[in-house]
Parts: sequence; structure tokens; C-alpha cells
Amino acid sequence: MLKGKKILLGITGSIAAYKSVIFVRFLVKAGAEVKVIMTEGAKDFVSPLTFATLSKNKVLFNLFDEDTWVNHVMLGRWADVMLVAPASCNTLAKMANGICDNLLLAVYLSSQAPVLIAPAMDEDMWHHPATKKNVETLQQYGNAFLPVNNGELASGLKGEGRMAEPEEMIQYLEEFFQKKNDLNGIKALVTAGPTQEALDPVRYISNHSSGKMGVAIAEELVNRGADVQLVLGPSAIKINSNIKVKKIISADEMYKACMKSLQTYDLIIMAAAVADYSPKTTSTQKIKKKSEEFSLELKKTKDILFEAGKRKSSDQILVGFALETNNEKDNALGKLIQKNADLIILNSTNDKGAGFGVDTNKITIFDKNKKEYKFPIKTKKEVAVDIVNTIIQYKNE
Ligand code: CTP
Repeated sequence: MLKGKKILLGITGSIAAYKSVIFVRFLVKAGAEVKVIMTEGAKDFVSPLTFATLSKNKVLFNLFDEDTWVNHVMLGRWADVMLVAPASCNTLAKMANGICDNLLLAVYLSSQAPVLIAPAMDEDMWHHPATKKNVETLQQYGNAFLPVNNGELASGLKGEGRMAEPEEMIQYLEEFFQKKNDLNGIKALVTAGPTQEALDPVRYISNHSSGKMGVAIAEELVNRGADVQLVLGPSAIKINSNIKVKKIISADEMYKACMKSLQTYDLIIMAAAVADYSPKTTSTQKIKKKSEEFSLELKKTKDILFEAGKRKSSDQILVGFALETNNEKDNALGKLIQKNADLIILNSTNDKGAGFGVDTNKITIFDKNKKEYKFPIKTKKEVAVDIVNTIIQYKNE
């Protein structure tokens, strides 16, 4: 799996650099080509000679080496993947802010290759809001993070922040190369977020959807090589720049955006919490407070999933969600059939940690062939991986 792969390894100033020595050894043994870039700080922890010997390549430090200019642009283009391991708190912050004061950062900023980051730092630094924000920013740029481990830290304390072990990094890389392209050539449409139905210029009817689940699905699809169009209702979430985004406000706008080129998609996933009703009329002026009671006349919106189910061809895969408060399984199966979906993903408001606003979810997926896939509570990112894997499994059956 790693044979012939070109790995650009960035090493920063952290005691975890010793693990990268073993990691480079494993990579070379597996047949990968490795080039190492070190920051000044990294040299205090491991000698460049060690990395040069193991990688069988000159270790790079500076934009200028004596009288030669190191072509950082071509380095970024040479690599199949750029991995920063260990990534110190300082380098993470610089990457997130586009700072370019060493070769590693110049290569990062000009890299065309996917970037993976293995952080290493003390627990308090890892949990600091500034670091969290930097991690979020880098994820939004499309960079992926290897999970940090819990254990003994350089400070002597125990906690989260240990860099992944060399064996784990090898496994992660293998999985990365395996799954990176499994959706190449697939065109996907994803809906996410709430819709807002205007009453007048200042008021609307909406719901609590944050859009997190649908956006996580769109990100997982794009990370695996799909060409993704996201139709997104009003949501504060920042979107990975590799996803095409069409922002809409109302259910009607979402309907039109989805129907526009529906036939061109191989995969359609409707994760949006679309309003079922919208005001019969929208006042052009602010509705004034007059009488003691006020009734609102609503009309049904178009059911986008239902319409997509009516129009879909046999080789398109259609996936819907069912958010239920009671009689969950029957209601979800009813929606699967009634809306002609291939798969339906059930969320129950009765499950703690599932539903709107939170970062976790608990789902059960039902497919048209009467298969049921139950999953434990997980982060929405992990749930997105389960959803995409289940869709692929369904497609291959
Ligand atoms: N959906 C849609 N268009 C609508 C309403 C819902 O595309 N106007 C889609 C949602 O994106 C979701 C699925 O239909 O994929 C089910 O949504 P849900 O709100 O659970 O069910 P409803 O069909 O709206 O039925 P009810 O509110 O009665 O449960």
C-alpha cells in the first residue's frame, strides 16, 4: 500500500520527534520514498543526520541552502501526501494563520498534496481554545488530523496530547491511501442545515438544525474523492474549500437548487431539516402588533426527498434522514418506502447526544433490502464515515 508513495514529512520542535525516527524507518521499509523537512526547533530533539540516514535523502531546513534556493513549490507538488509529525502547538498556530517563516511552512502553504497533521503537545495546550480554533481552521482548509493519544506527557503529567505511535501513523497512512480515492468520479449532492420561511422582512419560521451532520457528510465524501455539491440552509459552519456550496434560505429555494441538475448526481443525500410548512403569504412590510390574537396560515412546502425519489433513475442512490420522537423504526421505514429512498438514516430525539446542535449523533440506517445497521453514539465526523461506508457497502451488494 505504501510502496512507491512519496511522503513529505515535516518535523517540528517536540520531544515526540523521536517517534518520527522509527516512523521514517517503517516508511522506508514499506517501500515509500521519504523526504524530511525540519524546523530549527526540531534539530534540538533529533539530529538531522539520523533522518538523512534513514530516509536516504538530504534533510531540508531552509528556503536557501548556501547558494541554492530550495524549490518549496516543487516539493509540495512532488509529494503524494505531506505529513507534519510531530506538529507542535507553535507550528499548528502558524499553519492556521498562513505564517511563512521557515521552509516547512512555505511548503505547507504551497502544497498541492493532501496534508495530514499529527499534533504533539501538553494537555493544557491541546485543550486551549486558541489551539482548538487553529485545529478547526486547519480542518476547514481540508487538512486531516491524526488523533492524539492519552498517556504520559513530556511534562510528566498524564493526559491528552501525545502524538500517535509510529505503528498507528503507518496504519493511518495505509487507510488514507486506501480510502482516498474510493469515491473518485462520483458526483454527490448533499443538503444540510435548516431552512427559514419568512413571515415578513424581520421574522421567519425555522428549526434548530445546525447543519453539522450534513456538512460532515459532505466533507467525508470530498475527502474520499467525490465531487460534492452542498445545498446549505442558513448555518454558521465554515465549509471546506473543496466543496461546492450553494447557499439558500427557504425550502422553496432548496427545492429549486436540488432539482436543477438532479439527474447528474450519482449520490443524493438529504440531511437538511427542511421546513414542512411555510407562511401562505409573506408580508413585504413588518407585521404590526394589533389584535390580541394572531393566526398564521401555512401551506405545505414541497418535499424535496419525495420529489427526488419520484425522479431518480435506478443507478442513482438516494439517502434520506428521519428525525423521530416516537415509533421511530416504523416511521423511518415508512419514509424509506414512501419517499422511494435507497437508505434512510434514523435519529431519535430520545437518544442522549443525538439530534440538533450537539457534536455527536446516534444513528440506525435502514436500506431498501431490509438491512438494518445500528451504530453507537459517535462524533458527527465519525458518524459521517459510517454513513459513507454503509452507502458504499449498499452500492456494492
Ligand atoms: N425532507 C425534504 N423536504 C421536506 C421535508 C423533508 O427533503 N420538505 C427530507 C429531509 O431532508 C429528510 C427526510 O425528508 O431527509 C425526512 O425528514 P423528516 O423531517 O424526518 O420527515 P418529514 O418527511 O418532514 O415528515 P414528518 O415531519 O411528518 O416526520
